[in-house]
Amino acid sequence: MKSQNKNGKRGLIKSLHYLCGVILSVFIAFHLINHLFALDGPEKHIQVMDRFRLVYRHPVVETFVLLIVLFQVVTGIRLIYKRNAVTIAEKIQVYSGLYLSFFLIAHVGAVLSGRYIEHLDTNFYFAAAGLNYYPATFIFIPYYFLAVASISLHVSVIHYLKTGSAGAAIGMATVGMVAAMMIILAFTGNFSWLDIPQPYEQFIRSLI
Ligand code: HEM
Ligand code: HEM
Repeated sequence: MKSQNKNGKRGLIKSLHYLCGVILSVFIAFHLINHLFALDGPEKHIQVMDRFRLVYRHPVVETFVLLIVLFQVVTGIRLIYKRNAVTIAEKIQVYSGLYLSFFLIAHVGAVLSGRYIEHLDTNFYFAAAGLNYYPATFIFIPYYFLAVASISLHVSVIHYLKTGSAGAAIGMATVGMVAAMMIILAFTGNFSWLDIPQPYEQFIRSLI
């Protein structure tokens, strides 16, 4: 009886993690597409972000997105405690989730403090500052690459565990890795390194 209750509770947390995961994936998809527009230059990225901001910077939408991020981290960590990861797929799910927990807290914390404490416009140059400044780039390249890789691994493993289709899962993960690489290339001017406006450079120098 006790284990039935436990399973029921785990089932509820898993269902809520699933539902919020699907909702958050919509934001993440638009967010990453926005970053891919940087392949056409910083101005294009900022132009597209200005449009997307009309939706996700609306106070109701933004509060909702930020609460879901927090909820996803809390429920994800609870699921890890309850999950006995045995297969490689299950282990990838757990480790990608762990990296996402770290990244989401660090990334959203940085964006909010950049905006409200440093009074910066957290646009293309906010992310590019760390990626183009030596030696911070050695931290920020893996930091952003692993974020995009982790979300695509997390989602492709779920697809594999639910459908058993390894081919489709590997395909999804590969698309994610290529997108991660393209974002890094776009934000560093194909590793030719970009000039960063003074306030952003100062911000990153104060950190590292
Ligand atoms: C960033 C956004 C995230 C999305 C979009 C997402 C999405 C999902 C989805 C759709 C599932 C499948 C649930 C099911 O099988 O019905 C899942 C499972 C899981 N997620 Fe996440 N997740 C995210 C973040 C996290 C984080 C931050 C963690 C860990 C700290 C985490 C840990 C897990 C674990 C352990 C499972 C397996 C649950 C189980 O089968 O027992 N997830 N995730
Ligand atoms: C898994 C990958 C990622 C997730 C889940 C994620 C999530 C988020 C979230 C939740 C926000 C806050 C949005 C809000 O204000 O409500 C945000 C903002 C931001 N992110 Fe990410 N992010 C990811 C990857 C990246 C990458 C790869 C970059 C750049 C290289 C980046 C750059 C930014 C910037 C510049 C903002 C500020 C947006 C604004 O001020 O309008 N993100 N991100």
